[in-house]
Amino acid sequence: SKLPQIKNEPFLHYAPGSAERAALQDELERLDKQASEDPLRVPCIVDGKDVWTGVAVRQPMPHHHEKSICVYDELDEGTVKSAIDGAMRAKTQWASWPQDERNAVFLKAADLLAGKYRQRLNAAVMLGQGKTAWQAEIDAAVETIDFWRFAARWAEHIHAWQPPENSPGVWNRMEYRPLEGFVSCITPFNFIAITANLPSSPVIMGNVALMKPAENATHAAYIVYDILREAGLPDGVIQFLPGNGKIYSEATLTSPDFAAVHFTGSTAVFNQIWRDVGERLDTYKSYPRIVGETGGKNFHVVHHSADLENVLHATIRGAFEYQGQKCSATSRMYVPRSLWPQLRQKLVEQVEKVSMGSPMDFRNFMTAVINERAFMRVQGYIERARASSDAHIICGGVADMSKGYFIAPTIIETTNPHYETMEQEIFGPVLTVYPYDDSVDAEQSFEAVLHLVNQTSGYALTGSIFARDRAAILKASDTLRDAAGNFYINNQSTGSIVSQQPFGGSRRSGTNDKSGSPVNLMRWVSPRSVKESF
Ligand code: NAD
Ligand code: ALA
Repeated sequence: SKLPQIKNEPFLHYAPGSAERAALQDELERLDKQASEDPLRVPCIVDGKDVWTGVAVRQPMPHHHEKSICVYDELDEGTVKSAIDGAMRAKTQWASWPQDERNAVFLKAADLLAGKYRQRLNAAVMLGQGKTAWQAEIDAAVETIDFWRFAARWAEHIHAWQPPENSPGVWNRMEYRPLEGFVSCITPFNFIAITANLPSSPVIMGNVALMKPAENATHAAYIVYDILREAGLPDGVIQFLPGNGKIYSEATLTSPDFAAVHFTGSTAVFNQIWRDVGERLDTYKSYPRIVGETGGKNFHVVHHSADLENVLHATIRGAFEYQGQKCSATSRMYVPRSLWPQLRQKLVEQVEKVSMGSPMDFRNFMTAVINERAFMRVQGYIERARASSDAHIICGGVADMSKGYFIAPTIIETTNPHYETMEQEIFGPVLTVYPYDDSVDAEQSFEAVLHLVNQTSGYALTGSIFARDRAAILKASDTLRDAAGNFYINNQSTGSIVSQQPFGGSRRSGTNDKSGSPVNLMRWVSPRSVKESF
């Protein structure tokens, strides 16, 4: 390989007294002061130029919603249309760059983020998206850096695959060309690494992209965009268009140059995009590539042979880190009734010790949920559980949005395995536990519960089996083959690492094009077979 050695970026620990902690605190204070006095103004960026559309929208801080981490000018139809025209102009040159040159932009961006911009981006994610320092570090720093570096390696691997056979007098080869048109990239609020990766993976393969960050992640997305520019990304190759998804979608899907959508977000929005593309199919030059990662209803299944301490720690982390707002968050759990009283007591004790508050206070394990809409949705589930005879709230259930959108970590116990919080994505700090009867035949009950897990919710993103018994692990792995794109054994349902556990699910969780792997990059090429006779 021509590339430097590529490994996962080491995680910084932000220990008290460390230089990295001091640097992060400086950035947090600077940003907090700026938010109080004169919030950053963020434009749309088209062909490298700032575009002020005149529709200013504030991005509130989740833990203190009166403060704005930035005020951005929202995209409009005309700006999106001129971004498409500019991207199509930029495409000819960018697509002709050798792969090494394109790789160099992303390798340099990764180095800039690993050094100069690490604490700035982490601070923006902490205050803008409500992450603790450690949750910001694994997302904004480590995962983003890994996505950029490993994409360069895989791009090289993709070009390296060439037809292994030639006939006498014939030379066969494959060219990995970009798609004919632009790639529309629509990103969620919860991972800035995804915001960075969705446009980067098509672009590294020679495409041009429109980047539409989630409204609640605009500030951090703007920093990511700036890093790519500083790393040498030419004007127009990625156009930055913050704001309303519906207006954006309408303007992109009516363009004949639309070649693909790279989406991460909710299942409902992805379904709508897919329908809209289908309706306009005859207007496009090629069948558009539709790549989307969507919702989840991720499970922990406990076998009676499980190590309960491990279950306890994995579940607290899986369900409540980042307030349960990871697509991979643990949100339904199946526990043998014989173990439940013991586990329940331990879970409640741990949850009651969880500290929640401002992300600027490093002692907090949780902060606020992203916005008022999320707060109301999660609170609705809690209120309905309180009133239901099928459900019982065993801890948490308290919510307060007077200053920030705070919801205490909540555990619901249910006797109905199809109760709404066992079936629907909540996207907040709520875990539902279904204790299953194992009083007569423990192995038969386990087998029955595996079938139940497989038939519940319709999502298939992540899930975990906890067991020491190898036969139980094997049975779970077999029965749940299609129930989770990322399947974990004795580990929490969250926390995939780029290149180690390529990420994505099927069923209603998406097209399973495994971000963090070459599988995803392959979606962004339109290969040409060339046969030359001598
Ligand atoms: P969301 O669907 O509300 O928004 C995602 C993006 O879509 C945003 O940029 C938004 O502006 C845009 N959008 C909204 N309406 C649109 C429309 N009509 N047309 C086009 N774009 C539109 O999701 P969110 O709240 O930002 O993120 C949370 C969701 O994302 C959860 O469902 C979570 O499971 C999912 N998610 C999935 C993964 C994964 O890898 N599977 C990763 C992260 C998040
Ligand atoms: N990669 C993230 C996780 O696995 C979504 O939690």
